[in-house]
Amino acid sequence: MVIQWYPGHMAKAKREVSEQLKKVDVVFELVDARIPYSSRNPMIDEVIGNKPRVVILNKKDMANLKELDKWQTYFKDEGFYPVVVDAKHDKGLKSVESAAREATKEKFEKEKEKGLKPRAIRAMIVGIPNVGKSTFINKLARRNIAKTGNTPGVTKAQQWIKVGKTLQLLDTPGILWPKFEDELVGKKLSITGAIKDSIVHLDEVAIYGLNFLIEHDYEGLCRHYNIDLSSDSELLEWFDAIGRRRGLLQKGNEVDYEAVIELIIYDIRNAKIGTYTFDVVKEVKG
Ligand code: G4P
Repeated sequence: MVIQWYPGHMAKAKREVSEQLKKVDVVFELVDARIPYSSRNPMIDEVIGNKPRVVILNKKDMANLKELDKWQTYFKDEGFYPVVVDAKHDKGLKSVESAAREATKEKFEKEKEKGLKPRAIRAMIVGIPNVGKSTFINKLARRNIAKTGNTPGVTKAQQWIKVGKTLQLLDTPGILWPKFEDELVGKKLSITGAIKDSIVHLDEVAIYGLNFLIEHDYEGLCRHYNIDLSSDSELLEWFDAIGRRRGLLQKGNEVDYEAVIELIIYDIRNAKIGTYTFDVVKEVKG
């Protein structure tokens, strides 16, 4: 389902998430490990406030692990508790419970001092569409609970899912909108499949992707398409070479550029060429 994020929807989503936040001790902010900055909601700090936060960098299997180390440091410096997971293949999920414990330690120590009984930590997930919230919940719950499909905000009937011995998770995630305003962010959201193709120019997305590959994985790019071009070749030469090698031609033996654009986006989005993290900590910090 495509979400149309109108101002009214955004306000409603923000309000609903804020309401649910009152029920929990800790927030799990889910981001895509390929774009740990671009896949965040632009108002996330305002929405979550001072609530302890575990930042879950999901889709580790498709990201650049070296860059992810830097992103973990970045999030720690922000005062959050980062964990890197691959929800789809059930990797790293055990570390989520201990991160939640760490993030809420102070709060629970205070409760203990006040003589309150020990209880489970309550958590909820928030994130933009497609970062893997439903997949993550289903894996943690060990059954299919969260529907893959999206409605802004959160739906009403919610239940607590038991995770391990010390954690309870709301079964419905809070869905917030991505950063649309920045053009480069838009391209990154598109190349990773976070936003629907119709709202961005696919040729620009493919050009962004190709430039990224030429700069960061020139050899992988040449190997994948079995082409041999120098890294300073014109972009058109790359499109031509990929199209001809793959037989993406139309009448008159001309390269079918639309097909090449689709191919490049598909291959990058599905990590067919390599695993990349497009957001760079240095650039975000300025
Ligand atoms: P959402 O609730 O945040 O909107 O995201 P959802 O769980 O629906 O996941 C969006 C897509 O991301 C799904 O792919 C899902 O399988 C995939 N995904 C989630 N976590 C991971 C991960 O850790 N690694 C990888 N590689 N993929 C992940 P889809 O193509 O929409 O569906 P399907 O092909 O898996 O059925």
